[in-house]
Amino acid sequence: MEQEKKKIVLSAVQPTGTPTLGNYLGAFKNWKIMANDMAQEYDCFYAVADLHSITVRLQPADLRRQTLEMYAFLLALGIDPEKNVVFIQSHVPEHAQLAWILNCYTQFGEASRMTQFKDKSEKHPENVNVGLFSYPVLMAADILLYQADYVPVGDDQKQHLEITRDIAERFNGIYGNTFKVPEPFIHKAGARIMSLQDPAKKMSKSDANPKGFISLLDDDNVILKKIKSAVTDSEAKVYYGEGKDGINNLMEIYSCCTGKSFDEIESEFDGKGYGDFKTAVGEAVIDELKPVKAEYNRLINDKAYLLQCAATGAEMASHFAQRTLKKTMKKVGFLQLEK
Ligand code: TRP
Repeated sequence: MEQEKKKIVLSAVQPTGTPTLGNYLGAFKNWKIMANDMAQEYDCFYAVADLHSITVRLQPADLRRQTLEMYAFLLALGIDPEKNVVFIQSHVPEHAQLAWILNCYTQFGEASRMTQFKDKSEKHPENVNVGLFSYPVLMAADILLYQADYVPVGDDQKQHLEITRDIAERFNGIYGNTFKVPEPFIHKAGARIMSLQDPAKKMSKSDANPKGFISLLDDDNVILKKIKSAVTDSEAKVYYGEGKDGINNLMEIYSCCTGKSFDEIESEFDGKGYGDFKTAVGEAVIDELKPVKAEYNRLINDKAYLLQCAATGAEMASHFAQRTLKKTMKKVGFLQLEK
């Protein structure tokens, strides 16, 4: 029997500093599962989206350092850079090249409707640059270059995936089948981890109160302290329910770290108070992050190795990216050189 072709998965993350527990449980853990445990089903491409990051003004040294750090984080998750394509976006020039072409197949109106563009331009009225506006087109190029079947994304990026699909369909409609039209990949356990101090808000590293989020590099005692000071309620009973946002959030975290269902967690803590529960959550988070932290600390001190992996990743990515770019340019009508 003919073996079914593996599905292609692509995702990317901007190099914006140390990820939080929310980023880890909401995205990275799934990236790792898809790349390792489900390697029979998926070929994974993961990128550090450094080109996207310059829509905000950054110090050159910070961009450089954060890019290497994020790359180290991806490898520290346990994603094997030989079996998967783990690369840095700016090392593969086809991203910018395809983005230009796709800009010409994207309407000003549809790009204007992107809520992230509207939010970001309101937040930074002093720097509403054209890059910020065409940001979703670059993201479309990232995805379409690899003919991705699935794109694991959070809620905030769903609209960008929609426009990617629209651009792909439009181009295919004009020139015939060129791009795979990608599907969003939403995990069953699509964890949305909330702030420990205000469980109505998403956990974010830009939270003014550092007790609201856990950074992947927090020390064990800091993790425990932050979990212990998490906001709960006065009922002192561990179950998932309405009006219990704080406990719901801790249950979500505990469930993601241990694989236990909410029912199992409820019976585990039946008759016990929040103190015991929080200690268990804290320890589960510490155990979960320990190997990532250790591996990150090892890798970040081995720049030569990281650069070597990035070079290999870029080479593997280019192989696929060049193929799609060539095909696209030919269809549009760019003059091809004889070889
Ligand atoms: N825009 C995404 C974010 O900020 C990052 C990103 C860039 C991305 N290119 C992508 C995500 C392609 C998925 C696919 O989170």
